[in-house]
Amino acid sequence: MSAHAAPRTPDADALAAAASALRDGNLVGFPTETVYGLGADARDPAAVARVFAAKGRPSDHPLICHVASAGDARALVALMSPAAEALAVAFWPGPLTLVMARSAVVPDAVTGGRDTVAVRVPAHPVALALLRAFGGAVAAPSANRFGRPSPTCADDVVDELGDAVAMVLDGGPCDIGIESTVVDMTTDPPQVLRPGRISAAQLSQVIGAPVSAEASGPARAPGMLESHYAPGAQVRVVDAADAARAAAELAGEGIVAVMASDEIPGLPPDAVILGPMGDADGYAARLYAAFRRADAHGARWIVAVPPPAEGIGVAVRDRLARASAGR
Ligand code: TXA
Ligand code: MG
Repeated sequence: MSAHAAPRTPDADALAAAASALRDGNLVGFPTETVYGLGADARDPAAVARVFAAKGRPSDHPLICHVASAGDARALVALMSPAAEALAVAFWPGPLTLVMARSAVVPDAVTGGRDTVAVRVPAHPVALALLRAFGGAVAAPSANRFGRPSPTCADDVVDELGDAVAMVLDGGPCDIGIESTVVDMTTDPPQVLRPGRISAAQLSQVIGAPVSAEASGPARAPGMLESHYAPGAQVRVVDAADAARAAAELAGEGIVAVMASDEIPGLPPDAVILGPMGDADGYAARLYAAFRRADAHGARWIVAVPPPAEGIGVAVRDRLARASAGR
């Protein structure tokens, strides 16, 4: 495995080489429409173990299986309910991960020993081309070290995990920028374990029945630790009206970076402006790159004014809350 290989243009040669690396049990960084993934052959427990080792991720945090079609998804699950079928028709390929009862072909290494498996068909053309060239399921978490922000461009994958991968396919910057909506289809009603671009209301509309927007019960979403998605800088989430005061207060402790949709008047002159973040979709697309930019500036604090809690804004607020918690 070549250390810190440059990202590769995903032409036919690179896709064939990436598929062959997966068949050999090696890891491939690849783009999806949400964030970049760190892929391994989902049927190969040794390859899957390499994913956990590379990320430094606890082995009981299950991985998402990426497949090229709903038909390929059916092979991984014991049963795809009518509601799951309807969601697959409506949203695949796309940023939706369905948790379903697993079939015996899925190794324990992928599911953390659970009796369920998370599956999605990504919408990125390079991800789909890789899945078709490989011809099987690719288990892939986001391609970051454990607890760090997800990578949204190929260079970020090289920075995070360059020495662990055989190759990184360059699909450009990710359109959506935050991870897929994860919904548990094994409960009644189904429950959103991780908010994303597709809302609980959209899911509910398709299946014609309620979908719970909040997971209940302990550890329903293993790996959804409060301190996830965190940059090196500490994050403080504030209302726009309080941003200037918070930035001035924290400036005494070191460099302060500011993230907001609109310009904030009265910031300290040396504050690093990470915006404009744009509307909620723009904010999502720029969020993790902004975290990384704050770190590159050596920021001690990030003062973040979140977008409104509508649409993908709910998911952005979730990631900001997690980034700010428990540090
Ligand atoms: O957008 C995405 O979903 C990206 C791209 C690469 O597809 N992947 C991603 O993977 O974010 P990861 O491993 O960082 O997050 C997977 C999430 C975790 O919160 C995990 O707990 C949940 O999915 N998950 C996976 N399998 C599960 C299962 N069997 N039951 C409950 N939650 C599961
Ligand atoms: Mg992740």
